[in-house]
Amino acid sequence: MKEIVVASTNEGKIKEIRAMLNEIGIDVKSIKDVFDEEIEIEENGQTFKDNALIKAQTVCNLIHKPTLADDSGLEVKAMNGAPGIYSARFMGHDTSYDIKNQAIIDAVQGKEREARFVCAMVLCIPNEEPIFIEEYFNGEINDKIEGENGFGYDPIFYVPELGKTSASLTLEEKNQYSHRAKALKKLYQILKEK
Ligand code: IMP
Repeated sequence: MKEIVVASTNEGKIKEIRAMLNEIGIDVKSIKDVFDEEIEIEENGQTFKDNALIKAQTVCNLIHKPTLADDSGLEVKAMNGAPGIYSARFMGHDTSYDIKNQAIIDAVQGKEREARFVCAMVLCIPNEEPIFIEEYFNGEINDKIEGENGFGYDPIFYVPELGKTSASLTLEEKNQYSHRAKALKKLYQILKEK
């Protein structure tokens, strides 16, 4: 395999994926490189895996080239797994993460603090069965917003083995432990053997 298209416009994600797959000689393109106009994909699945499959399959069927998609989010035990697949849309797309994060801190007050980030990745290759990968980053909800790095829910995601929130980790540290980094490592191994 010489080239993979990532069914995403998220530059951060594409950069991480490109850095890893370039090492084994795979060229990584974004959907912006293959479509002139923005394509709208409705993520109406009930799981991370479903949504990643919808994204990868829709693009793969249009371009007939290997296509990778990922879908990720935060699951909080005391909130019955919410915000989960709705992580980006939780309390509304335009609500700031300071507000979303404080709402989660309030919701777990006096309850279990267990939480995890989930990353589902799906690689669709024309005329082959899709490849599924799911990885986790386990932690707890911190009692306050803490740390300047990362994005989204990182300032409230406390990593017990490191004694700090994922927003207090350097990118290099986060890339050793995160759900997305672990999924990418698995993908790397699978593609290396292909
Ligand atoms: P998406 O898969 O890019 O749609 O991400 C879903 C949402 O999950 C993001 O918008 C964030 O709110 C949250 N999320 C996923 N991964 C992370 C992470 O590594 N740190 C913080 N938030 C994350």
